[in-house]
Amino acid sequence: MQKPNAQRERIIELLEHHGGVTEQSVREVSNETGVPEADIWGTGLFYTLINRPGKRIRLCDGLTCQMFGADQLAEELRASGKEVERVSCLGQCDLAPSSLDAEMELVTYGKCKTAVTSDDPELAMNLGGKVDMSYSALSKAGQLGPEAVIEQLKISGLQGRGGAGFPAHFKWTALRQQPETERYVVCNADEAEPGTFKDRELILRQSHKMLEGLAIAAAVVETKRIYIYIRGEYVNEYRAIETAIADASRQLADFEFTIVKGHGAYICGEETALLESLEGKRGMPRLKPPYPTESGFRGKPTLIHNVETIACVPSIIHRGGEWFRSLGKTEAGSKLYCISGHVNAPGVYELPLGVSLDELVQAAGGYVGKPIAFSPGGASSGFLPISKKDVPLDYKHLAEAGSMLGSAGVVVINDSVDMALAAAWQLEFFERESCGQCAPCRIGTRYIRRQVDKYIQLGDPGSLEQAEDVGWEMEEGSICGLGMVAAKPLESARQHFPDAFKVRD
Ligand SMILES: Cc1cc2nc3c(=O)[nH]c(=O)nc-3n(C[C@H](O)[C@H](O)[C@H](O)COP(=O)(O)O)c2cc1C
Ligand code: SF4
Repeated sequence: MQKPNAQRERIIELLEHHGGVTEQSVREVSNETGVPEADIWGTGLFYTLINRPGKRIRLCDGLTCQMFGADQLAEELRASGKEVERVSCLGQCDLAPSSLDAEMELVTYGKCKTAVTSDDPELAMNLGGKVDMSYSALSKAGQLGPEAVIEQLKISGLQGRGGAGFPAHFKWTALRQQPETERYVVCNADEAEPGTFKDRELILRQSHKMLEGLAIAAAVVETKRIYIYIRGEYVNEYRAIETAIADASRQLADFEFTIVKGHGAYICGEETALLESLEGKRGMPRLKPPYPTESGFRGKPTLIHNVETIACVPSIIHRGGEWFRSLGKTEAGSKLYCISGHVNAPGVYELPLGVSLDELVQAAGGYVGKPIAFSPGGASSGFLPISKKDVPLDYKHLAEAGSMLGSAGVVVINDSVDMALAAAWQLEFFERESCGQCAPCRIGTRYIRRQVDKYIQLGDPGSLEQAEDVGWEMEEGSICGLGMVAAKPLESARQHFPDAFKVRD
């Protein structure tokens, strides 16, 4: 039985400390925390970084790494006697293919070379620019007061950069309206969608922008408590945040920062799954409503923002909402675009929100080979044909084109890639990362991936007959966004590339 003062929130961290999930570690963690062993097994086994103790190479299976020979690399590594685990995505698509060694340090194989990011003092995040440690936006926000800060956010048109594009000011206002005074600010640094690595660069280059934004948010919603949930594979980025907090300890003295590591579950990027994980449970999304602004971490009002969203805030306070809004092309602000795949200089580029694919690719050194397709916003966005390259890469226009900006993880694909295979790679990601809570997602992701594999092996389109219906069930019957979009890579590939799904010899 769980003891009255059981310390559930500590169990994942303690399991990691004890080297992962083993009979002995579970017993020890249960003794230390008062949480029953069965619960600890259930939670620990959910997280891939701790559920199978032992040292091995973790090789990325993401779309871009697959395009650059991850399968062959896995064979070569195994042939040389190495133990290799295939993992969903390491957030290093600009350095594809990539892996983590047994000590969790990044290893790349020199096929892709990442580029320098934008360096223009006019930009909101200015990744290549000088690091500003003055924290003067925090002081200015204090002088302006909460209502005026929220008003500037509203004028700025800042939309959440984590994927949904929800206007930021609504959430800040909702928090302030809650009668409960125990409140939290949470930064979502769990970035793990194939194609996406922008938060990584922001944290490495401009951690102070993120920290200052978080401090402003906390001051406005009247709390001191700030949590940063960062994916466990981002080891250098974790260190960068620790260092930045220590360096700015004087400026941030009024706030309590807690950095929490994720443990290898993509679904924990979904905000309510993240909260469950913070509370020491399996990262399974909650039913909404209630939304986190009302009932979030520990059941208290919680403001959750993506790293990039929150990092825009100091510049908005400094230079005003109008200035930020005017940076955009079709929608407000500048945007960090990740670009990888068949371009000369993959990397993260800060550009006006709403640039076209051609404009982005021009910044990234041009196309490699003959482009046929692109995935504009991570695996969830499916594929678009290259004929759609003039669609502005923003929230509204991509939605109208049947896709989404999502995490702005753009992957360019040339005619060397079989689009049925590209779809299969993305489907495998969703199958692996489904938390298993709802049947349509748990069963549907497995079913459609198997059917596509069958088609690739046998060349018979008949194996895909039921795929559309299953995709519909998944969209209708899933609790969270993962299940709702998991069939998208196949649906969009079949829609735009019918030749890739014909009878094959
Ligand atoms: C399956 C799934 C995965 C997600 N992963 C992330 C993520 O890694 N990082 C992130 O900021 N938001 C992610 N989101 C969106 C969050 O749920 C949430 O909308 C976001 O953190 C809110 O911050 P924002 O308003 O600043 O965008 C994900 C959503 C879903 C459905
Ligand atoms: S849709 Fe999938 S990932 Fe989301 S809660 Fe249901 S089973 Fe979990």
